[in-house]
Amino acid sequence: MILERSDKIDIDIDSVPMPLRDIAAEAQWFIKMRNRYRSAIKEVSTKLEILDDEFQMKNNYTPIHHMESRVKSVQNIMEKLQRKGFDISKDSVRKLTDIAGIRVICNYINDVYDVSELLIKQDDIDLIRKRDYIANPKKSGYRSLHLIVTVPIFLTESVEVLPVEIQFRTIAMDTWASLEHELKYKNKGDLSEDAQMELIACANDLADIDQRMQRIHKMADGIIREL
Ligand code: GTP
Ligand code: MG
Repeated sequence: MILERSDKIDIDIDSVPMPLRDIAAEAQWFIKMRNRYRSAIKEVSTKLEILDDEFQMKNNYTPIHHMESRVKSVQNIMEKLQRKGFDISKDSVRKLTDIAGIRVICNYINDVYDVSELLIKQDDIDLIRKRDYIANPKKSGYRSLHLIVTVPIFLTESVEVLPVEIQFRTIAMDTWASLEHELKYKNKGDLSEDAQMELIACANDLADIDQRMQRIHKMADGIIREL
């Protein structure tokens, strides 16, 4: 589902004509860098899958509905450096903390906090930044729990510690974020005031539904435990 093979580093620099060698070396650096971040995604995804399995064994219930992941494309890395006003250099690329991204879609709000806390507690995971847009939604209405963590990846000759951005959200939050993103994208970022107000209202309604579904889950859980 998540695990992909690394891109082959198939540039033989020595066979590249001299005038193109610098460009080839840069391309090779990007391929290598993106492969390292792909490994970081594998490490964190496996940890999350193990936690999900453990929940299943203990409680006969899986908190994670599904996961998605991506390594930021070279084009998006360049766009972000420009947007942030950073110079286009390897050092600037290394400063980005969202080259590796995982989205963890959970069933209920409590699952978001339970799973994220269990992950942060692990010895080899360091929490760099936590933004709780569930407790403090964005002005747009956006809700999710964002973590930036670092994880070590063990290579043939070294250990690298790399950042991974993890967005935890419920199915309802994910539905809203996907549709809102598409609407904004289609309108090149400009939505009418009315459309924006309506989107905020939908986000609030979905947050209310999340609370109600959480309560129903607790009631159902009570019945299951009584049986
Ligand atoms: P970036 O520089 O854009 O990455 O922002 P940041 O580093 O300040 O991170 P932030 O906490 O704002 O989260 C950025 C990511 O969260 C985006 O790439 C989106 O995936 C998601 N996100 C944040 N705000 C919104 C929003 O209003 N709508 C949607 N659909 N997604 C959002
Ligand atoms: Mg980002």
